[in-house]
Amino acid sequence: MDELRTKYLPLIDAAQDEAALEELRLAAIGKKGEVSLAMRSLGKMSAEERQEAGPRLNALKDEITSAIAAKKAALADAALDARLSEEWLDVTLPGRGGARGVAEGSVHPVSQVWEECTAIFADMGFRVAEGPQVESDWYNFDALNIPDHHPARGEMDTFYMHRADGDDRPPHVLRTHTSPVQIRSMQEHGAPLRIICPGRVYRADFDQTHTPMFHQIEGLAIGRDISMANLKWVLEEFFTAFFGTKVKTRFRASHFPFTEPSAEVDIQCSFEGGTVKVGEGDDWLEVLGSGMVHPDVLRAGGIDPDEWQGFAFGMGIDRIAMLKYGIPDLRAFFDSDLRWLRHYGFNALQVPTLRGGV
Ligand code: DAH
Repeated sequence: MDELRTKYLPLIDAAQDEAALEELRLAAIGKKGEVSLAMRSLGKMSAEERQEAGPRLNALKDEITSAIAAKKAALADAALDARLSEEWLDVTLPGRGGARGVAEGSVHPVSQVWEECTAIFADMGFRVAEGPQVESDWYNFDALNIPDHHPARGEMDTFYMHRADGDDRPPHVLRTHTSPVQIRSMQEHGAPLRIICPGRVYRADFDQTHTPMFHQIEGLAIGRDISMANLKWVLEEFFTAFFGTKVKTRFRASHFPFTEPSAEVDIQCSFEGGTVKVGEGDDWLEVLGSGMVHPDVLRAGGIDPDEWQGFAFGMGIDRIAMLKYGIPDLRAFFDSDLRWLRHYGFNALQVPTLRGGV
């Protein structure tokens, strides 16, 4: 028994893999293994011999069994360690990228400009608000002082949602502008308030300068004595940061149902040589609608117009993206043409900053 112990224990300890261990197990304690055979010989012993040898053989069998189990676990641990060190990966290395040596995906100009606007307005204390794209006609029209049969409803080329037969509530619409978010924000937060709302809007219109889905950014600031002067300052500050050059604005008297007084805002530009240059020259380009929030609109939002007043504006994100990045055709924005996306897209790892992209 001592011979068997000194033979097998070192062999088990030195085994290189599971197959070698299995061979040793069979040779020692398998059916025809040496220890098993020795156990079988117990029958030929005298009763005294058997009493002494039996327990010792059993103990030897147990000892070998647990030595094999321990070695097996050690081998598995070593194999895992080897795999872990072999398959180790430095996740901080830059990506290999595609054939062009840069990341294949890119950020769409609309997303880029959306983020740039958010960064600039956030710096002026505006928070981002959101609302649904499928909107009730109350939020999209009535609450904004556009009652039923008001000509502005017809002008908006609204997409109406279908209602089930027999349901004669007014249909929901695909929001035609981001202005309904003004109402939702007033209801949710009350006054004072400073929000912007970038988002998708929809109108049944399609040509070189119109797509049925496009993007707007709405602004709203409500306080006790907010005036048109604050509006003009905020917009000039915005355009100067956005275009990276001092941009003059021109306010033209206009009309919107939800503001009083209302103004359309133009930015200074030149059209020389067939290209638009913002911030220079003597020409003007219309970029947004704005005004002082109409008392009826404040009321619809649950705000007392005798205590509070504010300004609002709405502008096209796609429009100012075209201007800033020299993109000629609006329709191409939504064609998903890979060549266009590679040309006008932005690096996904370049986070828009206050003056980014200039
Ligand atoms: N909602 C208008 C539109 O879609 C844009 C607009 C004009 C928004 C004046 C405003 C505003 O907040 O004050 O054409």
